[in-house]
Amino acid sequence: MNNDIRFPANFLWGATTAAYQIEGAWNEDGKGESIWDRFVRRPGVIIDGSTGDVACDHYHRYVEDLDHMAALGLKAYRFSIAWPRIFPTGSGQPNQRGLDFYRRLIDGLHQRNIAPVATLYHWDLPQALEDRGGWTNRDTALRFAEYADYLFRRIGGEVALWATHNEPFIQAFYGYGNGENAPGKRSPWQVLKVVHHLLLSHGLAVSAFRATKPQPARTDLPPSQIGIVMMIWPHYPASDHPADRKAAQRIDGVMNRLFLEPLFRRRYPADLVAHFARRLIFAPVKPGDMEIIGQPIDFLGINTYTRLFHAFNWREPFLLTKQVPGPLPKTAMGWEIYPDCIIEALQKAREYTSIPLYITENGAAFDDPPPDPADQVVEDPDRVAYLRSHIEACRRALAAGCDLRGYFVWTLMDNFEWAKGLSKRFGIIYTDYATQRRVWKRSAHVYRDIIARNGL
Ligand code: FCB
Repeated sequence: MNNDIRFPANFLWGATTAAYQIEGAWNEDGKGESIWDRFVRRPGVIIDGSTGDVACDHYHRYVEDLDHMAALGLKAYRFSIAWPRIFPTGSGQPNQRGLDFYRRLIDGLHQRNIAPVATLYHWDLPQALEDRGGWTNRDTALRFAEYADYLFRRIGGEVALWATHNEPFIQAFYGYGNGENAPGKRSPWQVLKVVHHLLLSHGLAVSAFRATKPQPARTDLPPSQIGIVMMIWPHYPASDHPADRKAAQRIDGVMNRLFLEPLFRRRYPADLVAHFARRLIFAPVKPGDMEIIGQPIDFLGINTYTRLFHAFNWREPFLLTKQVPGPLPKTAMGWEIYPDCIIEALQKAREYTSIPLYITENGAAFDDPPPDPADQVVEDPDRVAYLRSHIEACRRALAAGCDLRGYFVWTLMDNFEWAKGLSKRFGIIYTDYATQRRVWKRSAHVYRDIIARNGL
């Protein structure tokens, strides 16, 4: 391996977070209840019984966190906006204090020369909309478009890259299919409705963005762009058995193609339509929907962490797969460490589109030790190795001609990892939840050096 690996001059080195995972302040300044605020109060759903009520208390500590970002030398910061801070009941009267928080955050980023990358929806639907059916209700897509339009008009030009959704697969299949995420519904027969309404809401937001044409307030900033963030993980059969191969193909369909095909080819994949139709599950497509969903976007964000192996699941014919551990070492999530997931995810995207690509999330949880006695650093050699090998994979993709524009580490600091609560630490900065002290891990130092020399 060449040990002087440089990246393109404008490569966007970033870090990613999500509102519910870091902000806390769950009921402050007029914020409405989200489906996660409701869900975490159900006994037993979060592994360690924790909630995001406080999380990293970022809502109050964002200035300190901005300073950490600046010290890291980040070129971009990807965060999400909590819809119920802006519209506490999902629609109607906007909440000025909610918008003001994101304005302060975005101003702080500009002051530090960090490009804001904002996701409109990272799974925290206003509970009031869930009470009317949530994403099973087409009306939610229309409300989402209003919420997006409001933000584009107010702060559209201040944000470099807008992403409509984060991983719609997870919202649909974990939120409404197996119930592991909020709103905790186990209604597999509803998932295609949810998928379709999520995709429709994406398209309607893109239309609103094109109509608004947000202009940056500062002339030195490039025009804002809009795209979506997809989870793209490679899928392998557990064996050569035809049933296992079918399982891998089916899950690749459900997790990847079910979203990529409508977004870039304006249709749902025929094999999946048939698969679901046999179970009397249909996407509620109305005339014109696929044109709205499939309109051009400016970039595609890809979240990728590992690959998965699948065996045919004889007992669960709905999703048809049983995950089988791969042969390589694993992270604390049990995810195989497989740097080529980056290459394979980028290749998958390229089968569908030639627009610019970003790795919008990549990173790893490990059982980190506490900070050293002097409270100076947390030694996390496994995460350092993980990041280096995955960033090296980005370099290989670039060398092969891939139009990869940036890499965002998941995540800036340890935070609330959904159903795993506070038990899984993905941060390059250590969060001491008792004191809210942030301590840089070795990986933060290494990432800062990578950014500073623009390479490995
Ligand atoms: C992704 C999510 C993100 C985080 C990482 C570990 O699927 O987008 O919020 O939980 O996984």
